[in-house]
This record gives sequence, structure tokens and C-alpha cells, in this order.
Amino acid sequence: MFEIIDRDASARLGEWTVGKHKIKTPTIAIVVNPNRQVIPPEVMKKMGVELIITNSYIINKKPETRKMFSKRGLHASLNWDGPIYTDSGTFQMFSQSLKDLPNKKIIQFQKKIKSDIITPVDVFTLPKDDLKIAKKKLTETIKRIKEAKSLVRNFNAPIQGGRHLALRKQACQKLAKVDPLIYSIGGIVPYMEQYRFTKLGEIILTCKGNLPPNYPVHAFGAGHPMVFAFLTALGCDVFDSAMYSLAAQRGAYLTVRGTLEAASLREFPCTCPACSCTTVSYFKSMSLYQKEKFLTLHNLYVTVGEIRTVRQAIR
Ligand code: GUN
Ligand code: ZN
Repeated sequence: MFEIIDRDASARLGEWTVGKHKIKTPTIAIVVNPNRQVIPPEVMKKMGVELIITNSYIINKKPETRKMFSKRGLHASLNWDGPIYTDSGTFQMFSQSLKDLPNKKIIQFQKKIKSDIITPVDVFTLPKDDLKIAKKKLTETIKRIKEAKSLVRNFNAPIQGGRHLALRKQACQKLAKVDPLIYSIGGIVPYMEQYRFTKLGEIILTCKGNLPPNYPVHAFGAGHPMVFAFLTALGCDVFDSAMYSLAAQRGAYLTVRGTLEAASLREFPCTCPACSCTTVSYFKSMSLYQKEKFLTLHNLYVTVGEIRTVRQAIR
């Protein structure tokens, strides 16, 4: 159930029920790497994180994690008692050119490890895909979402269609009755990476105009805090961030206005607990791992803080 409590422009302040949990939206699903947890889950919880997301493909690929997660379930394995969203590996197929993953098997694995929100293997559509290719990928994606519906109740319905607005519209109309837990707008990461915000806005508005209003909408891969306000104003309710961690690994310091290179700063322009007790000269004396941990913490504070700012602005 998704209840809308307040609104401003197309932004919604909502309360979303996921299994036995109720969470506030707009929200950010924090990406947790099953193989490498730099920030302990209890620290995330204290910051105000209400939802985490992890990748069932990565868990399934490695025999050790596959065994442990199958036996203990996601929640005990990740030490998180709140809701957990799982992605399917679609984005890995796109970014690492992997071969096609078996939809049914991936869905059943997410069910087995007790995911709260299950994602089918949608087919990632690239900005360069022409109408014919994008249409073929969309048809396959819709087929896989319907297969998910036949297997589980708590599924996510990704909207593909690439840059073709007519296809995005068709996708939304064809999926209007599948009754998912959430709709997600997929294939938008390249537009954000290339700062193509006009096109991104057109895609989101087309989807929003054709989806039933009483479901939350996830902007898949929208991870930089600088886009949260924009995408919320267009009607998105859920974001996910691996950015806080990926940026930290390459020495990048996130702000709501953009990304800075930590090594080039003379002062940290932030009052989060990490920045408040670290000077730039102390940062420079840190080991690589300590630097990454500091930046991960700061990036996470900025990410979660911006979501709170966005919610309060709607109120
Ligand atoms: N992560 C970023 N983009 C996507 C997408 O289009 N589909 C899925 N499943 N995950 C994503
Ligand atoms: Zn900070």
C-alpha cells in the first residue's frame, strides 16, 4: 500500500508499506555490497536509512554467498531487520556486458533469500537503441514482468523503452494493471551520467503521465544527491545509491551541487559528523582504506540528508 500524505508540484510525500514495514517516501535505498560492507548497518539505521538494496545476481554468482544467503536469508546475512529490495543483475549485464540471465531462476532465488521487493531481469535499453531494438527489448521485459507476477506477489515492474517516449507510454499502459509493489523507471543511468537532464525529464514525465498514480515510482540508478529534488518534483518517490560508495572508492566527495575531488580541497565544506572531526591535513595523512571509509561516511550523510531536505520541502 502506498499512501500519499502531502504534495508539491508532482512531488509526493508518502507512506509506503513494504511487508511488515512502513517507510517514508521520498526515500533512498542504500546499495549494500554483499561482499564488502564498509559502513555497518546499525550506523546506517542511526542516520535514518529505512531501506537497503542489494544485488541478487552478485549474491548468486559466488558459491559462498549463495550458500550463506540461501541458508540464513538476506536479513540475517546483511544484519538488517528493515525492508530489503533486490535488483536482478540487469545493470551488471549492461555495464559488464554479461550474457542474458535466466529470469525465472533469478526471481526464485530472490524469493528464496526472502527479498521484500523482487526485480525481474528487465532488458536494459540504451540511449542509442533504435525504435526496433528498443521495442524488442520492451516486449521481452514485459514478458518477464508477467512471469514475475505468476511467481511472486511482491515484485517490481521496470519500465524500459529507451529514449522513445511512445514506447515508454506503451510500457506504462501495458503494465498499468499488473499491480506491482512498485514501478521503476529503468535505462536512465546513461542520461544522468551524460548530464542529459532535458531528455531524462521527458522520459520521467512521460512515464508519470501514463502510470497509475497510487503506486510508488523508483528512478533506477538515481544515486547522486544533486538529482533528488529534480526527480522528486517530477514525481519519483524512490532512489537508490551506490554512488556514495563508488565515489568514495575513487576519492570523490559528493555535495548536493555536484562532485568534488577530495584531494583538491583545502577545507571540507560540510558539517556532517565525519567532516566535523576531520581536517584536510589529517585526511591527507590517512591510509587509502581510511580515506575511503571517511568519504563513504560523508557521502552517505550528504545523500541521506538531502532526502530529508526534500521531504521537509514537500511538507
Ligand atoms: N539499475 C540501474 N538501471 C537499471 C535498470 O534499468 N534495470 C534494473 N533492473 N536495474 C537498474
Ligand atoms: Zn561531510
